[in-house]
Amino acid sequence: MYDLIVIGGGPGGYLAAQRAGENGLNTLLIEKNKLGGVCLNEGCIPSKAFLNSAKIFDQAKNSSVFGVTTEKAAIDQSAVVSRKNKVVKALVSGVGAAMKAAKVTVKYGTGVIAGRDADGVISVYADEEKFETKRLIIATGSEIVIPPIPGVSEGLKDGTVITSREILDLETIPETMTIVGAGVIGLEMASYFQMCGCKVTVVEMLDHIAGNIDREMSSLLQKTYEKRGIEFNLNCKVTKAGGGFVEIDDAGITRKIPAERVLMSVGRRPVIKGFGLESIGVYTEHGRIVADAQGRTNVPGVFAIGDANGVWMLAHAAYREAEVAVNTILGKKDTMRYDAMPSVIYTNPEMAFVGETEETCREKGIAYKKRELPMGYSGRYLAENDVVEGKIKVLFDESTNRMIGCHMVGSYASEIILSATIMVETQMRVEDMKEIIFPHPTVGEIIREVL
Ligand code: FAD
Ligand code: NAI
Repeated sequence: MYDLIVIGGGPGGYLAAQRAGENGLNTLLIEKNKLGGVCLNEGCIPSKAFLNSAKIFDQAKNSSVFGVTTEKAAIDQSAVVSRKNKVVKALVSGVGAAMKAAKVTVKYGTGVIAGRDADGVISVYADEEKFETKRLIIATGSEIVIPPIPGVSEGLKDGTVITSREILDLETIPETMTIVGAGVIGLEMASYFQMCGCKVTVVEMLDHIAGNIDREMSSLLQKTYEKRGIEFNLNCKVTKAGGGFVEIDDAGITRKIPAERVLMSVGRRPVIKGFGLESIGVYTEHGRIVADAQGRTNVPGVFAIGDANGVWMLAHAAYREAEVAVNTILGKKDTMRYDAMPSVIYTNPEMAFVGETEETCREKGIAYKKRELPMGYSGRYLAENDVVEGKIKVLFDESTNRMIGCHMVGSYASEIILSATIMVETQMRVEDMKEIIFPHPTVGEIIREVL
């Protein structure tokens, strides 16, 4: 019998298995596809490899302002794809090596839960083979949502409609692309293909882009994108897609948008079906496994972490949830806190945020103060960026003077957000923040300046 079985080898599952193995638990990790899950194979890492190539191309095209002459800068999309594949391969094999070092047994196959007996022993099959344990971590991740829009299923077959999976293997840059859904995937891919010279049109059913982020920042990002040539159709319903176009209903008027490729990026949903959750009575609600702040489900010994519990569909949330679940199994006190969960949209310019927005403060009745600065206030930012776009906004609790939120649009936002995350997580007061010495010149100093 194993001390712990983990189903799913993505960021949540492989880190949980690694930590358990390092702490002496006899651990089995079951993965049906590739170690690294969505994040390493078709998510975080490959998309960032893409975006970095486009940022280099964009800089090369505009290098003359910096006194650098480059001739005939071009993007070689098949070389971008093959570099991305190399990076993915290296990281996936790194996960395999980490499992070996932690003495985790890895079994490739589909994990299916078969039942739990009166002594709490849970049976799990990996294909035909049966394994037993008293502790199970479910880390089955999430899957792409495909809405029932006419033309989409045919388009997926002939390649005129694609998802975040196929897009990362596109060997050529299409002339036109329509992106359905202006969430994180839609915006990152809009940024990539626009920088690579494609005419990008975005269709979003809401009246704003980027979901629940600070509304002022999302409209700033939208304006920046529009200046770069991306067209947004908000409040629009897609009525047909594929075969070279997208048909939308724009306030009762039907419009046809040419689209050599259509990217469907309307969300992901937790994987909770088809592997026997019901055989042990794990409670699910609104399509996700319900777990508490230690990752425990309603069934003793059974935990759910990462995208499968649907709290935050982010790799770093999965990592921390993995550690909390394993610490709980080991009898160490630990708990998940979601107040300081940073998020980044790796567009050009980047967008990063943590904590409360003005909208959530108003909803929760939190009295707040805000301080803001344009990113161009930073000397380093001005020295290194030609187009001075972007802004930082910091929110403080009016009564305690502690930082409760930080929102940024601009280059390096993905790195700077870490300092803000530490400040929000440790509930730092403005007086304490002001005593921190920031290296000069860095763009991160903007946090000191904004105070
Ligand atoms: P997953 O990574 O989904 O892994 C689940 C694993 O379980 C998979 O390998 C699957 O094969 C396996 N599995 C499922 N069912 C079974 C079964 N029955 N038996 C055996 N194995 C099973 N997040 C970020 O934080 N930053 C980013 O920049 C970022 N970029 C992204 C870009 C894209 C295009 C996408 C799609 C996602 C991105 N994400 C990003 C989200 C991130 O990938 C996920 O939050 C993260 O992968 C979740 O980790 P997980 O371990 O919960 O699940
Ligand atoms: P999302 O939930 O972020 O955005 C989906 C968007 O599609 C929403 O704005 C929604 O209103 C819109 N939409 C839904 N149905 C629609 C329809 N029929 N027509 C038009 N618009 C429609 O989902 P997305 O972008 O697919 O990403 C999934 C998850 O992956 C994210 O929630 C995030 O957790 C993760 N991710 C994280 C990244 C990061 O951290 N940088 C990068 C990419 C993905």
